[in-house]
Amino acid sequence: MKIVFATNNAHKLSEVKAVLGEGFELVTLKEVGIVEDIPETGETLDENASIKARYVYERTGLDCFADDTGLEVEALNGAPGVRSARYATDGHDFAANNRKLLRELEGVTNRKARFRTVISLIRSGEEIQVEGIVNGRIATEEAGCEGFGYDPLFIPDGESVTFAEMSADKKNSISHRGRAVAELVKVLTK
Ligand code: IMP
Repeated sequence: MKIVFATNNAHKLSEVKAVLGEGFELVTLKEVGIVEDIPETGETLDENASIKARYVYERTGLDCFADDTGLEVEALNGAPGVRSARYATDGHDFAANNRKLLRELEGVTNRKARFRTVISLIRSGEEIQVEGIVNGRIATEEAGCEGFGYDPLFIPDGESVTFAEMSADKKNSISHRGRAVAELVKVLTK
């Protein structure tokens, strides 16, 4: 099954490929001629996932899906949430975002957080959304160099190390994106 994944993030692409498995041929944005950044102007993860998927569908007419992910920290009332990519700066500066998060949580004992991924799938013009969540906590210092984004600071429940200290397979088996893609597979193979 051929399907466009609306991302330019190589980490996301390989994570999603691994969970989707062999039965699916993922086509990248570049391969369908979309080289610009798709504007993420929504106020929620659901809106942004939908905006990105529709952007691709309107330009290509191809079956496609897009994901939007946010880190929601309880003590920060759900921030950075939909602003996770641009938490510290206008760009996707992972190191600056992690520094800011540690600063905001200095002296805070409630470190509870969750990652939430929303995927919008458009198939034959019809849109469906699925979601994946992983609960965990924010570490007091960065650890590990696998993965991307907030991975060096996020310790999932039931684990003692951060996502950045895990293999890609292990992260995929418990992560927000892994769970959302598992739901996506259910829809695609129904
Ligand atoms: P996006 O809008 O879905 O690309 O995600 C927004 C931001 O959330 C990214 O720029 C990353 O900082 C962060 N993020 C998304 N997925 C992950 C993940 O799996 N691990 C760590 N951080 C992530």
